[in-house]
Amino acid sequence: MTGSLSDWLIGYRARSEFRCRSKQHGCEAYHVMAPVLYTLGLFKSYESYAPFIRNVLQHLPINASNPCILVAGVASEKSASALCDAISSPHLAPEIHFFDRCSTPLCRIDNARRFQRCRFKTHVLDILNSSYTTLNAHHEVVIADSFLRQFPSGTKRTVLKALATRVRPVTGRIVIREHVGATEELLADLWNRLAALEPAQTWLGSVDERTAAAFLDLLPRVQEYMKEAGGSYADTDTLIADLNSAGLRVEDMVRCAPDYGIVVSCVLD
Ligand SMILES: C[S@@+](CC[C@H](N)C(=O)[O-])C[C@H]1O[C@@H](n2cnc3c(N)ncnc32)[C@H](O)[C@@H]1O
Repeated sequence: MTGSLSDWLIGYRARSEFRCRSKQHGCEAYHVMAPVLYTLGLFKSYESYAPFIRNVLQHLPINASNPCILVAGVASEKSASALCDAISSPHLAPEIHFFDRCSTPLCRIDNARRFQRCRFKTHVLDILNSSYTTLNAHHEVVIADSFLRQFPSGTKRTVLKALATRVRPVTGRIVIREHVGATEELLADLWNRLAALEPAQTWLGSVDERTAAAFLDLLPRVQEYMKEAGGSYADTDTLIADLNSAGLRVEDMVRCAPDYGIVVSCVLD
């Protein structure tokens, strides 16, 4: 854990990249804690299914050595960096477009030195707002990781349809990762894992009191934020039905055990 993450936890409100509009989206605790929980090994991201993403890129039906990749929702520079690592290859020079309705994670990505080596752009956009349609409609790949679970069941199909409008027809691919199961059980399991995670407990025992207090103050607020999101898919069939209703056909699907995750790649039907 770098010292700067401790500084971030204690003093995030005074930092220029802290932009959460807390009252509007209630995402402050989540976006402050996301890089910390990722570093402690609790939050997992694109590294869990990097071979799947690479396979999609390698088998794009057109010869796209500079594919344009759109990423829907991003928690922090840590997960963004995991995506860059997952797709970096001497044969590929992708351009990555990260969008999120909150600018805190995007500002942290913009500021992270790691990204000076990637071709990327950030966009503050709400997928449920007309500003979203200002994005290019011809991305070779659209990736939505744990994004659908932000929305209630009735809105998930609307979101999928919006994602489908930003992918190149016929040759483009959409990669979705979601967690399948009852939301309460999945979240309970996540927080139990944190309690059992040795690096997290060691770190908490080693930081100064102010950092530990900030962490313990933010944690219940993250838990509340994640509980109030729309929720995971109860089963795979419902996910597939939603994909189909948005005009998407599943090409490939894998489970990412032991994380209850499922990853699918789809094409516009
Ligand atoms: C669970 S996080 C995505 C995490 C991602 N898998 C990662 O590891 O970086 C979901 C993100 O979606 C964003 N979000 C929620 N609703 C949104 C909307 N309507 N439009 C755009 N972004 C949204 C949140 O601000 C949050 O950063």
